[in-house]
Amino acid sequence: MVQYVLDKYDRPMKDLRISVIDQCNFRCTYCMPAEIFGDDYRFMPPEELLSFDEIVRLVEIFAKFGTEKVRLTGGEPLMRKDMDQLVARLKQVDGIKDIAITTNAIFLVKQAQKLKEAGLDRVNVSLDAIEDEVFKQTNGRGIKTSPVLKGIEAARQAGLEIKINMVVKKGMNESQILPMAKYFKDTGDTLRFIEFMDVGNHNGWNLDTVVSKQEIIEEIHAEMPLEPLDPNYFGEVANRYKYKDRDAEIGVISSVTDAFCSSCTRVRLSADGQLYTCLFASEGYDIRQMLRNDSSDQDIISKLIKIWTKRDDQYSVERAEGKPAKKKIEMSYIGG
Ligand code: GTP
Ligand code: 5AD
Ligand code: SF4
Ligand code: SF4
Repeated sequence: MVQYVLDKYDRPMKDLRISVIDQCNFRCTYCMPAEIFGDDYRFMPPEELLSFDEIVRLVEIFAKFGTEKVRLTGGEPLMRKDMDQLVARLKQVDGIKDIAITTNAIFLVKQAQKLKEAGLDRVNVSLDAIEDEVFKQTNGRGIKTSPVLKGIEAARQAGLEIKINMVVKKGMNESQILPMAKYFKDTGDTLRFIEFMDVGNHNGWNLDTVVSKQEIIEEIHAEMPLEPLDPNYFGEVANRYKYKDRDAEIGVISSVTDAFCSSCTRVRLSADGQLYTCLFASEGYDIRQMLRNDSSDQDIISKLIKIWTKRDDQYSVERAEGKPAKKKIEMSYIGG
């Protein structure tokens, strides 16, 4: 029997999200705006990144507390070399049942097959528009949709489970809600709409730029009737809906208008080994230092228990209550 560690609100530490690199080949305007993440931006030097050995050791420790799900994120995680080797090693860890990657899909054409063979279960692909002219703007690099769609196709051919993530921001891509819904209703891939969030310090967020879950659902329902579905698992971030006339579903991730902190079982590790107990945290806990100073597994376990048992994060609830935000870490650093 696994002994879960509970935080101040009785939430177990269950899902581990690991950022493996802070770099990305895109410059999405709401995540890594090109004006800030330009040629002179200093990304982490390689020696600062956790090695695969260090990541595997940590995952083994987390698995002892009941962690079954590992999600690999970035930046763009597939920019890190030999990701299939990391996946293969994580697959061997006792207790790990689900390994997923959140990616912009560009490198899937080359890597989907070997990632699947290594044991990857799922990919969540970020795609904010289906029309080139809009997508070229949102990704900040003038990239068309076709390389992403080819990446999705490669994932399908490889037999990976696929979800599509679309961040919806007013004035950026709300015109794409219906075209995206129609496109992925046809392919049968689950498309999740994400309310634009105030992550990081540079994305110009304010409440007026958010298209709410209700607005999104109403717009789609008017054209293609929907019915709600139950969650797949406790704490799932997306609310699910099914098309009445088709075996295809959508999801909406509504961190702004309908917070889901009360079931948040997620712990995040940055590429340089800092542990964060909330996406909106100001500071992390330096786990890398423990990995590199000969701390024993038991020392690390004691530290994790200490961190988690005092966790009281519920930023999205506090935002809704009007509590002012503190300085936050960037999305590309913590991996979303
Ligand atoms: P699965 O349900 O396992 O497929 O994954 P997921 O939806 O948890 O992961 P994904 O990386 O696809 O995240 C989708 C979106 O949900 C991203 O925009 C995340 O930033 C957002 N999200 C995920 N977890 C949290 C969370 O704990 N808090 C908030 N506010 N947003 C989150
Ligand atoms: N608000 C909502 N979602 C965001 N993402 C990145 N920045 C934001 C934001 N400000 C999404 C990405 C990716 C996931 C990990 O997080 O598009 O799908
Ligand atoms: Fe890269 Fe994803 Fe951020 Fe876009 S949202 S810049 S693809 S990490
Ligand atoms: Fe979890 Fe923080 Fe997101 Fe709330 S805001 S769901 S506590 S990561």
